[in-house]
Amino acid sequence: MKESLLMKIQTGVDIIEVERIKEAIEKQGEAFLKNVYTKNEIDYCENTNKMKYQHYAARFAAKEAVFKAISSKISTNEDDILNKIEIKNEESGKPIVNLEKLNITGIIDMDLSISHLKDYAVASFTVLFES
Ligand SMILES: CC(C)(COP(=O)(O)OP(=O)(O)OC[C@H]1O[C@@H](n2cnc3c(N)ncnc32)[C@H](O)[C@@H]1OP(=O)(O)O)[C@@H](O)C(=O)NCCC(=O)NCCS
Repeated sequence: MKESLLMKIQTGVDIIEVERIKEAIEKQGEAFLKNVYTKNEIDYCENTNKMKYQHYAARFAAKEAVFKAISSKISTNEDDILNKIEIKNEESGKPIVNLEKLNITGIIDMDLSISHLKDYAVASFTVLFES
């Protein structure tokens, strides 16, 4: 119990319409993709299965959820950081977050969960910081 006083938990959640991301990709193309996604993420969304816009939307929601949880630890604004937050998948398919491109110290553990339907994608992120 005493140890928990030395830690701080932060959570973030986000939901997005798949159509919004589809439109952004169709209208802005490469510029939008490069601004938001890493090359690994684009490869995953383009090649995993036929739900590519759901995968893109889920990653967008995940980045927003991560941003909400870490915003007190960063100084840049949201637009500058989306492609610095990388969503990867373990072999099992479980999503994980790579924050190496952001200089955030004191992270003890973090966890991401993603779900998507035809029209919506949702993500929930939890991070445990040293306080
Ligand atoms: C992994 C599983 C939970 C995904 O659930 P789903 O309802 O098919 O799909 P959702 O839209 O809710 O979730 C998809 C996301 O789950 C995440 N995911 C995949 N495998 C995962 C795993 N092993 N652990 C945690 N998350 C996982 C991924 O992030 C995926 O999105 P992405 O490919 O864009 O990264 C599901 O396919 C599964 O394997 N279930 C096992 C239990 C089962 O068979 N239940 C059937 C009950 S009728």
